Amino acid sequence: MMEDQMSDELSLAGILRYLPEDFDRQRIQFFPLIDSTNTEAKRQATEGAPDGTVLVAAQQTAGRGRVGRSFYSPRFGGIYFSILLRPKLLMQDMVRITACASIAVADAIFAVTGVYPQIKWVNDLYFSGKKVCGILTELVSAPSHAVVVGVGVNCSAVFPKELQEIAGNLPEVEDMKNRLAAELTMRLSSLEEMIVKGDFLSKYRKHSMVIGQYVTLLQEEGSRYFAKGIGDNCELILEDENGQERRLSTGEISIRFAAND
Ligand code: BTN
Repeated sequence: MMEDQMSDELSLAGILRYLPEDFDRQRIQFFPLIDSTNTEAKRQATEGAPDGTVLVAAQQTAGRGRVGRSFYSPRFGGIYFSILLRPKLLMQDMVRITACASIAVADAIFAVTGVYPQIKWVNDLYFSGKKVCGILTELVSAPSHAVVVGVGVNCSAVFPKELQEIAGNLPEVEDMKNRLAAELTMRLSSLEEMIVKGDFLSKYRKHSMVIGQYVTLLQEEGSRYFAKGIGDNCELILEDENGQERRLSTGEISIRFAAND
């Protein structure tokens, strides 16, 4: 093996080391630097890229998160990964896609690092009280229906001051970026199968860090709800202070923990 192929740095050769011999390597594209793997995957989707196309980057200059936020994506700081899928699912399955992807990603993290992250509904993964991974699911409708699932995982990132309280890294293990990228490729490739089977839900509830907590909706200043559970369609079941139930299923709503008093 060439010396550079043995390096721990994220690379196509490095990722392929952890995929089966017969894996179709044409499916994976590696970018040392890109604006956003989700933006590029959406662009390729409009040009007819096939189901299972994977884009992995070592750095993003315009990484995007949910609700218009940016995702900090420095070089050597993690994995920036997108997969383009063409599932036969409906619009209302969007929240299920993201929830199921959270489990596929958490399983991948566990397989590589031995730690199982906690899930903050609907798309953030936490370890030791800090966000270590975010997932952004986006739809492309023309010329044909496609879904892009984007995953950003923090590994050995050095965060700017304003992120240090909230963002963290996964525990380091040898060659983790290449191993994680390979695990993500394998697990997210069978996302549709996982959703149809539906057995990810019990795990999703078990590892939720929201159930049993008080939360506030960022879009509704001053709101305060008790998070009772997660429904069969992955919706968050909340109860307001008058005991009135409310179910959240939109990915456009963000929650924050509220005081438990
Ligand atoms: C979030 O925290 O709200 C979701 C963050 C998703 C970040 C990933 S990194 C790879 C892909 N490309 C992007 O621009 N965003 C996703």
